[in-house]
Amino acid sequence: MWDYTDKVLDLFYNPKNQGAIEVTDERDIAVVFGEIGSIACGDALRLHLKIDVPTDSILDARFQTFGCTSAIASSSALTEMIKGLTLDEALKVSNKDIADYLGGLPEAKMHCSVMGQEALEAAIYKYRGIEIEHHEEDEGALLCTCFGVSDNRVRRIVIENNLTTVEEVTNYIKAGGSCGSCLAGIEDIIAAVEKDKEATTARVEAELTRIQQTSRKLTTVQKITKIQEILDEVRPMLIADGGNVELFDVDGDIVKVILKGACSSCSSSTATLKDAIEVRLRDRVLSSLVVEAV
Ligand code: FES
Repeated sequence: MWDYTDKVLDLFYNPKNQGAIEVTDERDIAVVFGEIGSIACGDALRLHLKIDVPTDSILDARFQTFGCTSAIASSSALTEMIKGLTLDEALKVSNKDIADYLGGLPEAKMHCSVMGQEALEAAIYKYRGIEIEHHEEDEGALLCTCFGVSDNRVRRIVIENNLTTVEEVTNYIKAGGSCGSCLAGIEDIIAAVEKDKEATTARVEAELTRIQQTSRKLTTVQKITKIQEILDEVRPMLIADGGNVELFDVDGDIVKVILKGACSSCSSSTATLKDAIEVRLRDRVLSSLVVEAV
């Protein structure tokens, strides 16, 4: 017995938006469907969209599925999530968003959320006349012949869902779930993604350390000089609005400035201090600096 959330069970027993959308000849309306999976594999989903052409947005969404409890609940959830979205917004809906909407799915059923996201993409690509029904980056060498999954698709799913084991990959896109001859290839991809992640983390940490060291090394004179440089950058913008700014003092991390002219009486002077000056100072001089008007 799978451990389903109440939301999954509710949408399974009371599915929303089930069925097809009739093709219509209404003006400015397009009806399209995207299909994913195959009945031979046990899961198939056809997602229908009714699109308002002028606004490029989804007026209605319905589904037909040949699948299990999770497939029905995921499809139902997806149709609820995308109604009213523009197509570009809908393309940003990930399989994780679908699973989150349901309060989670059993690991072994995550492929149902992936199927929903891919059917959505297939429908939108079809409407836009894009031939491929999958992510362009999914094109690549066929890795799992049993389920027709390319190496690039495995890589994308591993990255997007932070997967770390072959079993998880099988749960998400079925690859590796039959003869097993692709398991070593999937393991290699997971290892390569992990290695890339570690390299990126190391790069980011090195950069942070460099920034911190640079900041720490500043003498008081250097710090004040840098602050002055940034005030000089901001000044023309303030002068154009009838104002000005001058450095009054630097007391530890507190940078005291005098706002002049229009800036001194301007209601948005706090925003000027924070957005125009403090953000720049924190970014380029020291992350702990606070700007105050005196
Ligand atoms: S090739 Fe992947 S399970 Fe058979």
